[in-house]
Amino acid sequence: MKTEVGIIGAGPAGLALAHLLQRDGIGCVVLEAQARQHIEERVRAGVLEQGTVDLLNELGLGERMMKQGLMHYGVELRFLGRGHRIDFADLTGGKGVMIYAQHEVIKDLVAARLKTGGEIIFEAKDVAVSGLDSEIPTIRFSQNGIGEELQCDFIAGCDGFHGICRDSIPAGVLKPYERVYPFGWLGILAQAPPASHELIYANHERGFALMSMRSPKISRLYLQCKPEEDLNEWADERIWDELDQRFAMRDGFSLMRGAVLQKGVTGMRSFVVEPMQFGRMFLAGDSAHIVPPTGAKGLNLAVADVRVLAAGFKEFYASRKRDLLGRYSEICLRRVWKVQRFSWWMTSLLHKFESDGEFDRRRQMAELDYVTSSRAGMTTLAENYVGLPME
Ligand code: FAD
Ligand code: DHB
Repeated sequence: MKTEVGIIGAGPAGLALAHLLQRDGIGCVVLEAQARQHIEERVRAGVLEQGTVDLLNELGLGERMMKQGLMHYGVELRFLGRGHRIDFADLTGGKGVMIYAQHEVIKDLVAARLKTGGEIIFEAKDVAVSGLDSEIPTIRFSQNGIGEELQCDFIAGCDGFHGICRDSIPAGVLKPYERVYPFGWLGILAQAPPASHELIYANHERGFALMSMRSPKISRLYLQCKPEEDLNEWADERIWDELDQRFAMRDGFSLMRGAVLQKGVTGMRSFVVEPMQFGRMFLAGDSAHIVPPTGAKGLNLAVADVRVLAAGFKEFYASRKRDLLGRYSEICLRRVWKVQRFSWWMTSLLHKFESDGEFDRRRQMAELDYVTSSRAGMTTLAENYVGLPME
């Protein structure tokens, strides 16, 4: 088998890249380790930046999102029992974010690709890459027990943090930068109307909590927990009680409770490798970098990477020039580090750090006070949250 670009991984990065290449008339094959149903049901992120929304619409993939998604033009920061709204539209010239689940994006991208005859090989096993610094990098995998080989001009490593692409690059080429946080998020999806129209990020003495949603009837809630938290110790009532304490307001507030449909714990880390490329393989999305979820950036950063990569491939196939491909890492990393900074900052601003003393707690409250009362402070949060402009 032969193709122009072999894409490993059918997450937001791999699927968005496949659609961008298809638009530009460049051949590609997507290989995915999991079954279609698995990736279409995997509950993950839910906030799309304006730029991600615009791209999905430009590609003709935004129809269901525009009908079912919820456009939000602000968020609330809640601390010391009071709420403070950050007005994105006012602060960023009308921009906002779309609340639309990642697995719904995946469903839309998979359906559109298959409908137009694009290839996605699901349940590809034993995926391995070779010849990365040769003219014909190759992907080997097995399907239904039969070994296959896919020869490519280029490989896009879109296989997430635990994929094989990053580790296939010879030792010493990549420099990793990492920070692991001493907490995680316990997340639930609940059959309960959200208690507010917009997201609430709460900093409470007991720890961080976030109220998000998937629809007017489904809430998505998170609370700061230990990184290795045992879910068996968290009966549904205990989760609701804890959430209620963390969202409490001086003048009263309570969440609407309902059946818990899904429960999980996510660890938190910041991670980047430099460069995001070796020979003819390019890493995009979580395979190259991870952000803690506090700024809702993971999916959006994955999509931003593949926009740059697709532009590079377009230039190459039009003129055989590699100017953009050669600058892929440099262009992406500028954005990656700004998003790393923002996600780290939101995490530091809103979580309880056990090692912190009274001084740090007061400093954190002063920063929240500043960020929610100064127009400059609010603008810095708003413009990062809705998404920095693409270079
Ligand atoms: P992924 O979505 O991870 O896609 C990679 C794909 O590659 C997967 O489909 C995987 O099955 C496939 N794959 C892996 N190995 C191979 C292989 N060897 N061969 C073939 N295919 C392979 N972000 C937020 O902003 N907010 C959140 O609340 C949030 N929650 C998250 C919860 C979890 C459990 C995780 C893991 C991530 C979460 N994220 C969240 C981050 C966000 O979902 C990711 O940043 C985003 O999915 C990145 O997209 P991606 O395409 O780079 O990688
Ligand atoms: C959601 C996830 C996030 O990480 C975040 O910052 C906001 C919302 C969500 O899943 O809805």
